[in-house]
Amino acid sequence: MARFPDVPATTSDRVRLRRFTEADAPRVLDLHGRIEVVRWLDDPPFDLQVSRADAVRWIDRAHTLQITDPRCGVWAVEVVATGVVAGTALLAPVPNDPRERRQIGWHLHPDSVGHGYATEAAAAVRDHAFACGLDEVLVLMYADNAPSAAVARRIGMTELGVLPDPYYSGESLFFTMTRDEHEALVGAAGPPP
Ligand SMILES: CC(C)(COP(=O)(O)OP(=O)(O)OC[C@H]1O[C@@H](n2cnc3c(N)ncnc32)[C@H](O)[C@@H]1OP(=O)(O)O)[C@@H](O)C(=O)NCCC(=O)NCCS
Repeated sequence: MARFPDVPATTSDRVRLRRFTEADAPRVLDLHGRIEVVRWLDDPPFDLQVSRADAVRWIDRAHTLQITDPRCGVWAVEVVATGVVAGTALLAPVPNDPRERRQIGWHLHPDSVGHGYATEAAAAVRDHAFACGLDEVLVLMYADNAPSAAVARRIGMTELGVLPDPYYSGESLFFTMTRDEHEALVGAAGPPP
């Protein structure tokens, strides 16, 4: 069975991706206890974290995702200069997708927006996805999520528009990137590790 990197490599000297540990629980709680963050991540009703135990369970689920599919993961986006966890970047299955595609996602703590951290982390996850042999990745978001759409555009995703979303409820703004598009953007990703 192919082995995949545990963590996407970044080319940035400003952020690195790493696995979450239990020591991150206070920051994870501060991030996922905020409606202004969580309202963009899932369908309502929004499930805000309220305790350290909630945050630890979330960290455990992040690790379980990677065990289930070693190409996938939910990684901490750490600011190299300060060690602060700015937020998360992820590669995860698109729920209920008959083509079993994967999606890239990101969210930052409000204290860490406006520095380009999400874009650098997302680009690393994009490159990781193709290095792991995926043929296509998606990004799905609420149609009015302009900051997130800007991240998708900055990492070179192709906008498909607002489409009925069979995976979540209602409609979503879809972005895609194929292996060919990725190669045209950054050069051949090379064989899967
Ligand atoms: C979506 C989200 C991650 C975008 O955050 P963001 O800070 O705008 O994105 P980036 O980290 O890539 O930063 C880009 C911004 O930093 C600015 N910036 C400042 N210094 C920079 C630098 N050195 N390099 C690059 N960009 C820099 C850019 O100009 C840009 O600002 P602008 O949009 O005003 O032009 C954030 O809004 C968020 O977490 N939202 C809530 C959760 C969410 O919606 N997640 C996505 C669900 S699909």
